[in-house]
Amino acid sequence: MADIKVAILGFGTVGEGVYRTIHSHEEELTAVLGKKVEVAAVLIKNKQKQRNISENILITTDFEEILSLPQLDVVVEAIVGKEPTFTFLKKAISKGCHIITANKEMFAHHGKELLELAKKNNVSVGFEATVAGGIPIIQTIRQLLKINQVRQIQGILNGTSNFILTEMREKKHSFAAALVQAQENGYAEADPTNDVEGFDAFYKTMILSKIAFGIEPNWEEVEREGITSISIDHIEAAEKLGLRFKHIASLNREGSHLVGSVKPALVTKSHPFYHVEGVDNAVCVQTDIVGRISLQGPGAGMFPTASAVIEDLVYVVQNQHSNLKLYHADNDHDLQKIDDAKE
Ligand code: NDP
Ligand code: HSE
Repeated sequence: MADIKVAILGFGTVGEGVYRTIHSHEEELTAVLGKKVEVAAVLIKNKQKQRNISENILITTDFEEILSLPQLDVVVEAIVGKEPTFTFLKKAISKGCHIITANKEMFAHHGKELLELAKKNNVSVGFEATVAGGIPIIQTIRQLLKINQVRQIQGILNGTSNFILTEMREKKHSFAAALVQAQENGYAEADPTNDVEGFDAFYKTMILSKIAFGIEPNWEEVEREGITSISIDHIEAAEKLGLRFKHIASLNREGSHLVGSVKPALVTKSHPFYHVEGVDNAVCVQTDIVGRISLQGPGAGMFPTASAVIEDLVYVVQNQHSNLKLYHADNDHDLQKIDDAKE
């Protein structure tokens, strides 16, 4: 039986983690999929960098060379920014490949178009790694909450910010030193402004919103603030009062409106996020039937993100046609009216 041929776009923290995990978990993948997964090609930008990639794999800076490979099944995208990634993924889908992306900035802007194009081409889209790193929050909402109506979501969605706040509180490290550590650990974005000013958490919140509510709040109406205004003095003063700063993303149904915000908040010891430390993320989903579900785990880094991508690899290969349902769900007619009015 033919192998499942995969191309990986980008070989940084995420791309390399995916490559290594495909090899370290070759047996498990073969057992689940009934076929061997073969990495056929890797796309990079800088040919001069040393990489630990097998000699028989195509390493190229030319995406067209990857597209021209015969029988390519899956394209995994782990590059940075909206372009050229959106263009690459549209071409991959049009060629009949399933796609998997970790790129939340691109997916928050273009997810709907990619999903629609994928539907037309009978292929599937995995985007678990775009939100909360290794936490399977997309699958949880998509697969497990088909009947429940989501009322509220709260999350710590940026590992870098939570790591910095923890380092500043526990070790009294400066903001700058903690950020350098986050970059060295592979948590931070290429431009860490996205992390510390709340843009990264904002994009993740918008992706979650579409999954959970079928719509997004108007982007201009979502309050967005990062963690740069929080000093060690602020953190120490809060600690004396039994409080901790957390960077919290929220989505709330308020009547027929969906209200979103991404900003720092002080939480008490009884708050579910009080003990969420380091690079961990957490997501609490409140629904009408089950009540509150909480998930916590590593929100960034090589292998937590590779975990999300590998699970998506199984998902896209096995479930080609089921991925659009909840992304476009009309969970609530009033909320749908808001969506209609926006368009
Ligand atoms: P890195 O900066 O570590 O790696 C980016 C990779 O993309 C590099 O290999 C780089 O090539 C390659 N690249 C950049 N631009 C191009 C281009 N135009 N053409 C071809 N290759 C290109 O980033 P990460 O691995 O950390 O992140 C990748 C994506 O995953 C981002 O969208 C990020 O938001 C997302 N993500 C990151 C997580 C993390 O923990 N780091 C977690 C979840 C999602 P070269 O090596 O030649 O420079
Ligand atoms: N820079 C991101 C973070 C990576 O720190 O959360 C995971 O999406």
